[in-house]
Amino acid sequence: MCGIVGYIGNNEKKSLLLSGLKELEYRGYDSAGISVLENGELHTFKAVGKLINLERKCEGFHSSGFGLGIGHTRWATHGKPTEINAHPHIGHYSNIVHNGIIENYQSIKESLQKQGCVFSSQTDTEVIVHLFESYVTQGNDPFSAFKKTISDLKGAYAILLITQKSPDTIFYAKNGSPLIIARNTKTKEVFFASSDAPLIGLASEVCYLEDGEVGKMDLESFARLKNIKPLSGDKLSAQKDGFTFFMEKEIYEQHKVLLETMMGRVSEEGFCLDELESLNLDSINSLTLCACGTSYHASLAGSYLIERIAKLKTKVEIASEFRYKEPILHKNELFVVISQSGETADTLEALKLAKQKGLTALAICNVDNSSIVRESDYSLLTRAGIEKGVASTKAFATQVMVLWILANFLAQKRGILDKAMLKNEANTMLEASKATQVDKKLHEHIKRLSRRYLHGHGFFFIGRDIFYPLALEGALKLKEISYLHAEGYPSGEMKHGPIALADLGLFCVTLMPQNLLYDKVKSNVEELSARDAMICALSAEYYEGCDDWIAIPSAKHYMVEFFSMMVVLQVFALEVAVRLGNDVDMPRNLAKSVTVE
Ligand code: F6R
Repeated sequence: MCGIVGYIGNNEKKSLLLSGLKELEYRGYDSAGISVLENGELHTFKAVGKLINLERKCEGFHSSGFGLGIGHTRWATHGKPTEINAHPHIGHYSNIVHNGIIENYQSIKESLQKQGCVFSSQTDTEVIVHLFESYVTQGNDPFSAFKKTISDLKGAYAILLITQKSPDTIFYAKNGSPLIIARNTKTKEVFFASSDAPLIGLASEVCYLEDGEVGKMDLESFARLKNIKPLSGDKLSAQKDGFTFFMEKEIYEQHKVLLETMMGRVSEEGFCLDELESLNLDSINSLTLCACGTSYHASLAGSYLIERIAKLKTKVEIASEFRYKEPILHKNELFVVISQSGETADTLEALKLAKQKGLTALAICNVDNSSIVRESDYSLLTRAGIEKGVASTKAFATQVMVLWILANFLAQKRGILDKAMLKNEANTMLEASKATQVDKKLHEHIKRLSRRYLHGHGFFFIGRDIFYPLALEGALKLKEISYLHAEGYPSGEMKHGPIALADLGLFCVTLMPQNLLYDKVKSNVEELSARDAMICALSAEYYEGCDDWIAIPSAKHYMVEFFSMMVVLQVFALEVAVRLGNDVDMPRNLAKSVTVE
């Protein structure tokens, strides 16, 4: 989704802004732009499409000496992805970049138009720069004009504004969309960004702004910010390491990151979650898990584990639905939000609602210091490392693992599991993480098989129990990057309607674990096979009714089979999408972090 960068200092500003935007590229965008203010002059460049187009646009431009810069990648919401609609938006002497949505932009626009203001774009953002300049025209100094502007806005925003009226200052405001200010303590340069990624390797200190903050920043003001923290991070962790796609690299590193997720938390002696030490479990009699997309699928998987292992009632909510359904909440339910980015607007708002109602909130998140982590009472980090592929893989794996650990931790605290059971669970987790190590031969087999799945009228992914959320996730992965129609279903549900679609053009990917309801799934698959649907079976044991068989290693526990099948589904989606010639890491219309409702 939209990304913001900003810079104050003496370095070459164009290249700093462009490389900052490159770091945000994976989040998804359809146009981009930068503005540099130096020696009192504003230089603005915008382009539709990939950053390379913007780089070409500003090829001949270089900036030396002190100056300011702002940059933006836009994911269209109001108005098409055109150059005019790309940010920065331009006034007579000021430029602005903005993430989020200004809900009352129409009324502001109409009143500015009455004053003679002419708009060139269809965006909500453009009103901000004109409103600012109208307040300056009325005699306000630039900072007062900026503050008045911000107080007129309704909605979510992270905003940077630069103006010739104040050539050493970047004005900023944050409400609902993330914004970070950072500094390199040696060079004194100041950076802005909408997420950590562009700052790693450049800045040593950061300040994660809170909602409602409005300010001005020059080279001297950083030290006055509250809550400055050191920034650590390793740029290398976000490189492709010889893989063609980030998604592929991220699938291959799952076995490593799962061990990280378990480190210090899982041992044969039991389960340890230091982060929850102060949580009073006696006051909790149920859990509500709330998330979107892949994180929602992980939550569904988690609900099976928590109910089965910890014997605690667990319901799962789609965050975008939760807010408006007037949910009935009880103080003794633990509200758990699951999010890779920690910035998903729907999940964040659901969390705020639960907090307002007095619930205790736990975040299961991949990004420390993200809005969701900061807003929650407790947090468990998933430790997946930076995930760049828009289609989530290792984040899902680590979310399921954390939920599984949480289930055991709760069961242990409630005295449900004895020592032998805890030991068995810990060893199964280790085995499950090993099962995600990609077998090159299996990958090759899936790659060859993928060419048989490029046509047809759609896919059903089916499974039972915890393999149902895995089926949902398999279908989501495929549709996200291949653009083929795919649905996930509980296999027992097929005969209640969906089986009407079964014919030669229907592909059914069937999840058939040996250790969980094998015979039940088998009879559901037979019903489909009898109606000529093409069956691709994922199982350890050969199933004679299948057209294609993807063999997973035989295991003693269904969770080991779960993680083996998860990898197969991810590789399957990847290989089908590659054959179709799609950009796997940046699929059309999708954004990595969905910061608008
Ligand atoms: C799918 C995917 C999305 C996200 C969803 C929630 O591959 O990545 O469905 O899972 O947008 O995002 P987070 O987990 O960042 O809250």
